[in-house]
Amino acid sequence: MHGKRILLGITGGIAAYKIAFLVRILKKKGAEVKCIMTPASSDFISPLVLATLSENPVGIEFWDKKTGVWTNHVDYGLWADVFVVAPLTANSLAKMATGSCDNLLLATYLSMKCPTIIAPAMDLDMYAHPSTKRNLNQLLADGVHLIPAEAGELASGLVGEGRMAEPETIAAAIEHFFLSQNSKANLSLKGKKVLVTAGPTYESIDPVRFIGNHSSGKMGFSIAEQLLAEGAEVELISGPTKLGLAHPNLTITRINSAQEMLEAVQSKWSDMNIGIFSAAVADYRPMEMAVQKIKKSENELTIELVKNPDILAWAGTNKAENQLLVGFALETNNVLENATSKLKRKNLDMIVMNTLEDKGAGFSGDTNKISILDIHNKLTSFELKSKSEVAKDIVAYLINYHK
Ligand code: C5P
Repeated sequence: MHGKRILLGITGGIAAYKIAFLVRILKKKGAEVKCIMTPASSDFISPLVLATLSENPVGIEFWDKKTGVWTNHVDYGLWADVFVVAPLTANSLAKMATGSCDNLLLATYLSMKCPTIIAPAMDLDMYAHPSTKRNLNQLLADGVHLIPAEAGELASGLVGEGRMAEPETIAAAIEHFFLSQNSKANLSLKGKKVLVTAGPTYESIDPVRFIGNHSSGKMGFSIAEQLLAEGAEVELISGPTKLGLAHPNLTITRINSAQEMLEAVQSKWSDMNIGIFSAAVADYRPMEMAVQKIKKSENELTIELVKNPDILAWAGTNKAENQLLVGFALETNNVLENATSKLKRKNLDMIVMNTLEDKGAGFSGDTNKISILDIHNKLTSFELKSKSEVAKDIVAYLINYHK
């Protein structure tokens, strides 16, 4: 994003406080950032914070009441490479959809020469309201790019869809937007539906504790990104990770436990052309989750574990003739032997092997060293690479693979 000019528009919702983090992320990635705000949004975040972090003055009013100096919304429109409105409230959304311009931010939107990306944020009832849907559809028809609101806890205390996407997700969407503008469209997977599992699973012990692992989700998210770049429609089912990704052809389902991941996979698998299972699913879960936090009264505590469902094996058993299934194998010994048996046992078309013995390979780091073994017994080994390069290799292998 080096040197890219990003104009951030902030409207008056509680999520406005998160924009300070977004500004920091974008600046760290080398972008130039300017902020414009609706007057109401300055009740949620101080313009001083945004001016300091963005290293640019913040625009709020059409003109300065003390000096009479006019803020030129047309100049903002000419300056920016992309205009990102986050959070976008129901009120400003409605005004953008109808072309109303009673503040600087809205006038700037009407003067924009570059694409606009929006990240709505509102309470669930407002987000679900037919008029909000109508306004959103209108903006999409006008060519605006949407970073959908996510489901989760809302400031009102309600739980549902309406939370602004996290700053990391918005930054990733902006980055993706610039990448897709630059790269020539090479759409080898256009029309293909691909399911990807990613990240760890958390198996609850009690309301505050869980069994988990160090999987970062980076491998799965990088694979999703490469698939999207090749034109695929991606269903990403992810365990808890800090990662975010936004794209019009991407749906992310966030789950916690293996059981939830299985249910998500079961509801989508029959519709898919390809499945890539990179999640580090916990093999066991506590037999029962304690309803209350377990007290440390005894010297010893025994937690009885039961086996989790093997999600990949379920997909293998329920694989149609034309579906392609890819699994991962993280082995510490007898890598090839174990991977070969896994490939057959789980009815896979190929298996991506990595071993913790290779320095730099595996779980939570940024690099990985893989080999791919397919059902025709072809073994291809790759060098140690960044996870996004590894993802490119895997996706390229898939594109050239013949069943
Ligand atoms: O059997 P193992 O856990 O080594 O297999 C690893 C592969 O199986 C990975 O692709 C992983 O995503 C998948 N898996 C799964 N559900 C499980 C365990 C593993 O989908 N419960």
